[in-house]
Amino acid sequence: MDSEKSVAIIGAGTMGKSIASLCCLHFTTILADNNKEILDNARTEIHKYIDHQYHKERITESQKNTAKYNIKITDSLAKIKADIIIEAIKEDYESKIALYKIVATHNPDSIILTNTSSLSITKLGKFILHPQRFAGLHFFNPATVMKLVELVIQDKTNEYTIKQVQEFCSIIKKTTIICKDSSGFVVNRVARAYYTESLQSAALGEQIQNIDESLQNIGFPMGAFRLMDLIGQDINFAVTTSLFEQMFFEPRFRPSIIQQKLVDSGKLGRKTKSGFYNYD
Ligand code: NAI
Repeated sequence: MDSEKSVAIIGAGTMGKSIASLCCLHFTTILADNNKEILDNARTEIHKYIDHQYHKERITESQKNTAKYNIKITDSLAKIKADIIIEAIKEDYESKIALYKIVATHNPDSIILTNTSSLSITKLGKFILHPQRFAGLHFFNPATVMKLVELVIQDKTNEYTIKQVQEFCSIIKKTTIICKDSSGFVVNRVARAYYTESLQSAALGEQIQNIDESLQNIGFPMGAFRLMDLIGQDINFAVTTSLFEQMFFEPRFRPSIIQQKLVDSGKLGRKTKSGFYNYD
């Protein structure tokens, strides 16, 4: 994988803009979304991130200018062409599959990766024209900070793809673990209890501030409720619901009515400036 290669990220929300911020430091990077306003905001935030890296002396002036030149935005999904395409749109099968139909047709030789947190890579791979070049690449939030990425392979993912993705991850300075396509992969399966048990405790009447402060005071960098606001209530709820179904309705993975109410009222966390906490 050399720096002549290009990367496209589809979905300019919480994760897409963060992944694009990393990629544009090394590659020509196309950031796509079907919402123009989200795209424009994402470009502004990416430029701010690049400036911040420069002010902290992590990149030179020439790297700063190259990174800004490297980032291109588009809402024409059918025109996207890149060597590596990372999909980071909403967490549901129908939307992702519909998108792959458009993108894979125009990019028969590209590697296509999904940032899904909980959907089956095997199931998604069935709808890609070339499943041998398809895998999950699960970044953590915020992608600019969190070191780990899970490279999730399905039966048809070939060695070439694994090697190319590992090289790509090492260029953007991530630590990669290869994991199986099992429910929640590694981290989301293990970490689910952090959210579900905290929500259960709140349902029993405990104050969310108390729970968050307690968790921080025993060493977690962020309490569960602040973290759910950062992730996005809609995404976190969709992931828990998906895992609950995949685990044959195992009670400890049960989603919470408290979170469902936030989603129904559009209080999605930081991205809507209101969730468990307010962000005005
Ligand atoms: P988000 O809701 O912040 O952003 C999704 C973006 O996709 C929006 O800007 C939306 O306009 C765009 N979009 C939706 N449908 C589209 C389509 N058909 N074509 C083009 N653009 C479309 O979601 P977020 O949080 O960035 O999550 C994206 C993916 O990343 C999901 O699969 C999620 O499970 C995964 N993920 C999320 C994490 C988080 O902490 N939020 C962490 C790791 C993975």
